[in-house]
Amino acid sequence: MRKLLASLVALTAFAGFTSQVAAQTATGSAAGGEKKAAMCIGCHSIPGYQASFPEVHKVPMIAGQNAKYIASALNAYKTGDRKHPTMKAIAASLTDQDIADLATFYETLPHDKKTLPAEPAHKPSAEVAELLKKVNCVSCHGSNFSKPIDAAYPKLAGQHPDYLFVALKAYQTQNNPQVGRSNPVMSGMAANFTHEQLKQLATYIGSLEGDLHVVPQPRFKMNETHAQ
Ligand code: HEC
Ligand code: HEC
Repeated sequence: MRKLLASLVALTAFAGFTSQVAAQTATGSAAGGEKKAAMCIGCHSIPGYQASFPEVHKVPMIAGQNAKYIASALNAYKTGDRKHPTMKAIAASLTDQDIADLATFYETLPHDKKTLPAEPAHKPSAEVAELLKKVNCVSCHGSNFSKPIDAAYPKLAGQHPDYLFVALKAYQTQNNPQVGRSNPVMSGMAANFTHEQLKQLATYIGSLEGDLHVVPQPRFKMNETHAQ
């Protein structure tokens, strides 16, 4: 327990550092982001779109996600802190301004803006409740998994469960050229669980009501945008 506390203190110090870095990025414009999103819609704006490499899972929903987190994730693909061949190539082509614009655009995509309950209506099984308690997931991701303590942390509620599972496993993977995430905070968390337990966590969190969604973007609209 002492060791866990010590590492949590170290992690919290680190988390403060990452959010400071994220705060220094360019100011985003949603209108600028909408034009640049032409390169994202083929995967992120098709409901249920499935990625097949390096793992098979649904492409994560990013509409309604925190802009600071979107920017931080894109930078992590760019630097290689997150390994994923396609997202690395895409992120490498983006400037800091592109990233800020895209992050703002996706955060502000319209949706029905319902007020989420402070606690999930759908309670976890006793087994999943134990797993959630083990490293206190809600202390960072919020009691309803949609209100993280820092906007550089992701909203998780309602995200595709198969993606959440792949993401959690990736935090356990190092030294693989195509898969793996080196974020020290989440790597420390994921290390406490077996794959089966990560799957249970992903299934529960993905079943919750949340802000994340897919906004289909009709081609004709994007063509109009291009023509301007
Ligand atoms: C060819 C399909 C494809 C395209 C095109 C694409 N993405 Fe992705 N994106 C993915 C997949 C698959 C993942 C999950 C990667 C992983 O496992 O880490 C992902 C992950 C992300 C994430 C991290 C989400 C999270 O919850 O951590 C962000 C942010 C993102 N993409 C933004 C974008 C933006 C912005 C664009 C356009 C500039 C874009 N993507 C284009 C397939 C795509
Ligand atoms: C100390 C704070 C902290 C705790 C506790 C924590 N997380 Fe996280 N989590 C983060 C941060 C920061 C990130 C973003 C990491 C990155 O940029 O890759 C993250 C990312 C994630 C992601 C990736 C989401 C995506 O869209 O790719 C998942 C899934 C996740 N956490 C689940 C959990 C679960 C389940 C628990 C409990 C077992 C947990 N987290 C506990 C801080 C925390």
